[in-house]
Amino acid sequence: MSVLDKMSSANAIALEDKYGAHNYHPLPVVLSRGEGVYVWDVEGKKYYDFLSAYSAVNQGHCHPKIVNAMINQAQTLTLTSRAFYNDKLGVYEEFVTNYFGFDKVLPMNTGAEAVETAIKICRKWAYEKKGIAENEAQIIVCDGNFHGRTTTIISFSNDENARKNFGPYTSGFIKIPYDDIDALEKTIKSSKNIAGFLVEPIQGEAGVYVPSEGYLTKAKALCEANNVLFIADEVQTGIARTGKLLAVNHENVQPDILILGKAISGGAYPVSAVLANDAIMNVIKPGQHGSTFGGNPVAAAVAIAALEVVRDEKLSENAEHLGKLFRSEIANYIEKSTIATLVRGKGLLNAIVINDTEESDTAWNICIALRDNGLLAKPTHGNIIRFAPPLVMNEEQLLDCVSIIINTLKQFEK
Ligand SMILES: Cc1ncc(COP(=O)(O)O)c(C=O)c1O
Repeated sequence: MSVLDKMSSANAIALEDKYGAHNYHPLPVVLSRGEGVYVWDVEGKKYYDFLSAYSAVNQGHCHPKIVNAMINQAQTLTLTSRAFYNDKLGVYEEFVTNYFGFDKVLPMNTGAEAVETAIKICRKWAYEKKGIAENEAQIIVCDGNFHGRTTTIISFSNDENARKNFGPYTSGFIKIPYDDIDALEKTIKSSKNIAGFLVEPIQGEAGVYVPSEGYLTKAKALCEANNVLFIADEVQTGIARTGKLLAVNHENVQPDILILGKAISGGAYPVSAVLANDAIMNVIKPGQHGSTFGGNPVAAAVAIAALEVVRDEKLSENAEHLGKLFRSEIANYIEKSTIATLVRGKGLLNAIVINDTEESDTAWNICIALRDNGLLAKPTHGNIIRFAPPLVMNEEQLLDCVSIIINTLKQFEK
């Protein structure tokens, strides 16, 4: 018998606890299979997935078209490195740039790597095109941001748990409040060394904060007027999650640099991408950036299939429709609820706020009860639960989930 054969939940959790670094705090459920909007644990219990691997599995678990593309490519050629050309990368690059409307793409693997890439491109552009003096470039970021876990990225986080004792930190970032256009204007105008504005169109990790209508349009206009690059991190909000292909599409904003990850592969494979037009992307020359796996043939084949699924199955439209239904059903319940105070979000990226403190464990306890009732979700904070199911869900399934959520919340009414 192989060590990977039949395993109980308790055994699997004990192994991770003993042999794995404790850098996560998972909900106690051990999954062994997924299909569409469902996942199954090792004991065979079926759940609705209401997290989608933090919005990576937008196309649903094990989508056959994506899995087939991966299998076919994996049996043909997996990796050449960029030391040589391969016959899939150029095809993918043409496809993805047309799909999102940019001249060029720089392929990477994880979201954090793509954010790092965007920062490097922005800085190089600042020195070589904008004329900022060497090492003086500043990038504006927002309070409450989440852009990943690398040393540079955590340098401008205000999550103490993510930052503390990982210094010394990378400089060159100015933090301003999110959704505050006056703060952005003041900061952009305060110095000629501002190179870029890095922003999540909706702050997912912070608790699904949707900025006021017009914020992104005004921010883009300010950037344009002051020759500052507008950099949209759509790693979580992109690829149909919020009811449009990109969250910036809600305001018809075209970023100067677009960062994508997660669902660009449907969660099948680590794929990320940075897109920009030639005037910006061409500052990068051979030897200045790269990754052994970035742009490999499997990633290229998987990403094309995953983006075709989004388009062919009209996932943006479905997310838009089901998101409205979800918020209106939950808001109806919240009117009379003592445990939940608010539902917010766009498309199928939503959160509810629990009537307790940020330090409480109420949201966690609700997620345990949701698990027992057949639905998997995770708190983003002590009193906020994010709800982000795969976008291939249908209306009947969504309404079933709404009743599981409401019945579970009722167990916690005071
Ligand atoms: C907005 C945003 N940017 C970047 C990242 C980092 O992506 P990864 O975990 O693939 O490095 C995340 C991950 O949650 C994210 O939500």
